[in-house]
Formats: sequence, C-alpha cells, structure tokens
Amino acid sequence: TTISPLIAGNWKMNGLTHSLGELTELARLLTAGEAPRALVVVCPPATLLAAVAAQGASSGIIAGGQDCHVNASGAHTGDIAAGMLADAGAQYVIVGHSERRTDHAETDDEVRAKAEAAIGAGLKPIICVGETEQQRDAGDAEAVVIAQIDGAIPDAAEQHEIIVAYEPIWAIGTGRTPSLEEIAQIHRVIRDRLVERFGERGQIIRILYGGSLKPHNAREILAVENVNGGLVGGASLLAKDFYTIISAV
Ligand code: G3H
Repeated sequence: TTISPLIAGNWKMNGLTHSLGELTELARLLTAGEAPRALVVVCPPATLLAAVAAQGASSGIIAGGQDCHVNASGAHTGDIAAGMLADAGAQYVIVGHSERRTDHAETDDEVRAKAEAAIGAGLKPIICVGETEQQRDAGDAEAVVIAQIDGAIPDAAEQHEIIVAYEPIWAIGTGRTPSLEEIAQIHRVIRDRLVERFGERGQIIRILYGGSLKPHNAREILAVENVNGGLVGGASLLAKDFYTIISAV
C-alpha cells in the first residue's frame, strides 16, 4: 500500500502577524518549482489560523489547529472547539501533543475525546504519542506508545481519517533523534497495532515522525518504512527550512 506523505508544521506558541511573511515565502517556494509530493499542513497559533487558511489556499497549504476542546461549545474560557477551528478554515487539528499532556495534564482519555470532537467537526485529528527518555532507557518505549495508541485513538478511526504522530519526547526541540533503526522499529510496532485494531484501514493510516526533524536529517528519516511524513516544530518556522523538509519526501 502506498500512502501519500504529509508534512505538518507546528508553530506552537510562536507567530505574530508579521510571521505570515514566512508563509508567503513558503507559498512562493511551493508554487515556484515542481509540486511537492507531500500534503503540506501548517498549524499556527489560533490567532493566525484564519489568515493561514486564507493565504495558504492558493498554494495548497492546509491550515490546522494545535488543540481543541472535547465539547462543541459552552462555558470554557480560553478554550477553542473543533468546530471553531473548522469555521476558521482548519482541516486538521493536533491533539495530545506532549506539551499539552505535560502543561495541561491531558490524559489518553481526554485526547481520545478531543480526537472524537475533531472528527465530529469534520477535522482530521493528528494524534500524538511518544515516550520520555526515562521510559526509553527503561526499555518501555514500545509499551508506552502502544498504551497511548490504544487509549487515545477513538474507535471512530475505523470510518474516519486520523493521523498518528510518533514523537519521542526527548527528541522534541533537542536536536537529538532516535536512530533510523529505532524509528523503523517503533513505527512498525505502531503499524501492527493499527492493523490489529482497524484491519485494512490500519494499513493506510499515516504515521508521522516528529522530534528534531530538520533539513539535514529529513531525507533519511522520511525514507524509513512506515514513516508517512513528519510533524515539524522549530524547523517549520522558517520557510526555507520547512520547504527543504517538504522537498525531502
Ligand atoms: O510538534 C512538533 C514537535 O514537537 C517537534 O518539535 O521539531 O522543534 O523538535 P521540534
């Protein structure tokens, strides 16, 4: 089965109106040469979502949110519902990023509910999993990730598109990455679990790699079996770097 690759940029809590200049530059790069093989998603802070959706459209850049609430509306000051992200032009939303799990104590149950809310609003959830360094050193990486897969992916994934992002927490923003063999191994384990649970459909669920994905390592990491694209943090902030990663698939 061939799965078309997807590269998503997660701007995290970075970006002001002037950052849209990088988006304009990315759009220019994407339309100047050969069309990229990958779907390109940019997940800016919510304040820039509508602008990214509007500006990106002509170059094929798709907008995504970084988080959503489990409910569709209500008294939840400061939160954003999946339907609001869709309304602002998003087609994807990241849920369960390790920074959300850490900063906001999100559990797999909550992440699953968020993924369900996203699907309910017509968004494709990018569901994040990944182990800490301590867990990897203890030999528990696979067990941790499997438990997250089981707990955070809703049954609705049987009928609706979801994306899994494997992000070893110790590789996020550190410049360190697992070896290609380690990436291949854990992506294989994730694939097997998805197939076990969702049958044929599990074969076509994209599994992204995230964690210090950079212009210099993108080509080899994105070529690993069962790596169907990437979730890029720091390197997505500069159009030139992000474009190099997009072009590496
Ligand atoms: O969502 C993106 C990841 O957390 C990766 O971040 O590329 O800055 O390591 P990074």
